[in-house]
Amino acid sequence: MTQPRRILITSALPYINGVKHLGNLAGSMLPADVYARVMRLKGHDVTYICATDEHGTPAELAAQAAGQSVQQYCDEQYEIQRRAGEGFNLSYDWFGRTSRPANHALTQHFAQMLEQKGLIEERTSKQVYSVDDGRFLPDRYVEGTCPHCGYEKARGDQCDSCGRLLDPTDLKNPYSAVSGSRNIEVRDTVHLYLKQTGMQDTIRAWVNEKGANWPQLAVSIANKWLDEGLIARSITRDLSWGVKVTDTDGNPRPGFENKVFYVWFDAPIGYISATQEWAEATGKDWEVLWKRDKGADETEYVQFMGKDNVAFHTVSFPVTLLGSGEPWKTVDKLKAFNWVTWYGGKFSTSQKRGVFMDQALDLLPADYWRWYLIANAPEGSDAAFTWEGFQAAVNSDLANVLGNFVNRITKYCASKFDGKVPEAGTPGEAEAWMERELAERLKALSAHYEAMEFRKAAAETRAIWAAGNEYLTKAEPWVKYKSDVDGAAVGVRAGLNLAAIFAIIAQPIIPEAAKKVLDALGIPEGNRTWPDWQDKGLLDALPHGHAITPPEVLFQKIEDAQVAEWTERFGGGKA
Ligand code: 2FM
Ligand code: ZN
Repeated sequence: MTQPRRILITSALPYINGVKHLGNLAGSMLPADVYARVMRLKGHDVTYICATDEHGTPAELAAQAAGQSVQQYCDEQYEIQRRAGEGFNLSYDWFGRTSRPANHALTQHFAQMLEQKGLIEERTSKQVYSVDDGRFLPDRYVEGTCPHCGYEKARGDQCDSCGRLLDPTDLKNPYSAVSGSRNIEVRDTVHLYLKQTGMQDTIRAWVNEKGANWPQLAVSIANKWLDEGLIARSITRDLSWGVKVTDTDGNPRPGFENKVFYVWFDAPIGYISATQEWAEATGKDWEVLWKRDKGADETEYVQFMGKDNVAFHTVSFPVTLLGSGEPWKTVDKLKAFNWVTWYGGKFSTSQKRGVFMDQALDLLPADYWRWYLIANAPEGSDAAFTWEGFQAAVNSDLANVLGNFVNRITKYCASKFDGKVPEAGTPGEAEAWMERELAERLKALSAHYEAMEFRKAAAETRAIWAAGNEYLTKAEPWVKYKSDVDGAAVGVRAGLNLAAIFAIIAQPIIPEAAKKVLDALGIPEGNRTWPDWQDKGLLDALPHGHAITPPEVLFQKIEDAQVAEWTERFGGGKA
């Protein structure tokens, strides 16, 4: 094997306000998990970090709606999201929380470093104030009519109808999202501003250098922001839940006693602080991943996110990291996704549209969803979720192509060859064809994963499974058996080896089913690594005479009646 690489992987931190829908999963956590699994199977030193993003107005408002304190709400929701991640077999090395002390301390540290570099200043601005609530109404605390499209329930930070980003003071006919009161004034308030203007040239140079390894989508989003010119952005809010604004001694900063840092300032810092939590809990070294003077230049840092997060990761967060003047690691490879759409519209957490992670697991095992979402990853463009598409992917790819192959060959071996890998016979034409096919396709599969092309990787995986079925059609062990038992033995031996290879390469996407097959074939844990086998015949991995047992049925087909029921229940078909 080539030299192991040290790889740090993060997926965008899921917001705490409720369990995530399949669109969130498909656009960040799931592909990050698949990538982490591939790289681990290839023997690389992988650390996959994620966390819940717990600050900001959506957390406060959701807690209020649930009649809980924000702390209580976040504690509960964190557990729910952690369990959903576990249910989907997301192989995080750590799933942290931005509300933990490590993130508070590090956020305050960054603010102080940025201030020392002259990149922070206090500015007075106008903010929406609710007289009846006795408080400022930042971001989503205020709703009103969108000045662009006239939608009457636009939120202070964004209009859900036209998608435009808004400032709370832009709204017409504003009212408080807390009390509904329209007794609203615009008052002066002081906030910290990060003078991104001063970092324009540094970020431009950095994007030019690092962007060479990013997809075009990410580079063009970063350049669009740079071309428009970076402006100072306010990094504090008039809220109580969040990271407190402190001075260098850790005391509340005068005038900021009732303010906290803006959620988008502290959230990405959560990637580092969650790595610190992981190091603290495991005794591992976080600095080699994050500090360039401690070896992080030799770490590959890969980020996964939805397209709406790209600007924050290619401009805002780098301003924090580079602006601090400290040698922090910045992203090397970045994978951004479009949306999974739901019957002509968007999946939506606030409107409860679509299928959510917990609901999905109540219907079917994680592998079914994982396969469909990766095979239809919203990479080049948005990808539509449909129940029929889901059914077709499961029934055809998983049940017919993979499931049948494994089932046929293991059962046949059990009935005709005593459940042992047969030893007799000499490989011929069909085996040579299969070897060539495998060698070529495994190379392509590795290349797709290396390029983080998940749809192509799933398609190649399926093509390899399909080639196995074609091989069996060519080799026909069941026909040969009648006249040439040794000839049949070759086919069964090759078939069993193929089943092993098929399961090994399936592990990143469908880990549970793959494990069932590998267990049934009696393949030890240590022999389940990626098949870059150059020196071993690809059809000779299993020792002759080795005992196997047919696995239980791998995949249940999805019936039309189930599709009809779920369509009805989840409102699919109605936009
Ligand atoms: O868009 C979101 O859901 C954010 N919670 C992502 C944050 S990513 C990171 F910067 F923390
Ligand atoms: Zn609008």
